[in-house]
Amino acid sequence: MSTKSLSKSDAPKNPTNREHSLGENDFIVSKTDTKGRIIYCNEIFVEMAGYPASSIIGANHNLIRHPDMPKIAFKLAWDLIQNKKEFFGLVKNMSADGGYYWVFAYITADLDPSGRIISYTSVRRKANQSAINIIEPIYKALVDAERSGGMNASETILNNFLKEHKMNYEEFVINIQKGATI
Ligand SMILES: Cc1cc2nc3c(=O)[nH]c(=O)nc-3n(C[C@H](O)[C@H](O)[C@H](O)COP(=O)(O)O)c2cc1C
Repeated sequence: MSTKSLSKSDAPKNPTNREHSLGENDFIVSKTDTKGRIIYCNEIFVEMAGYPASSIIGANHNLIRHPDMPKIAFKLAWDLIQNKKEFFGLVKNMSADGGYYWVFAYITADLDPSGRIISYTSVRRKANQSAINIIEPIYKALVDAERSGGMNASETILNNFLKEHKMNYEEFVINIQKGATI
């Protein structure tokens, strides 16, 4: 059995419409180093990602990045966690077979006693279908905007949308995950 870490180039090039469902009481956990390379993941992570556990360790977390996710979502996440703030988000991930699973994700920095960031930890649970129905067309608009105008374009769209709803991204996703409508 190979123990070589995987990279994004090992991920499927063509996503499929096969949905992998996460149980109501499941938590997907992973930990990365400061560069976003996976240093720990739990069994459910391995099951959902569909790669051998031994080759996930050391891989960049973008291994499971889904092309339907806008870049701006990850920029938001990294801007917060690098500043020791928590990130909450709705994320569509891609499994080894090209299928997908939606999660409500939480990411935070792990600090040493002097307050220096030593790693990051993420815990995710199943995303509510009503939240997915709301966020999917928004992410699609953001991905489309990024294709033609880069991240500046998607950032403008997202900021305008959030301003209109008088919320930041985090408040918005927490509300819709709780079942709020827009
Ligand atoms: C602890 C932690 C967990 C992460 N979890 C995910 C995840 O589940 N899915 C994902 O696509 N990116 C996740 N990321 C973000 C990735 O590091 C990366 O920024 C993202 O996949 C976009 O990659 P790209 O810029 O190479 O396209 C996580 C980052 C950290 C620090």
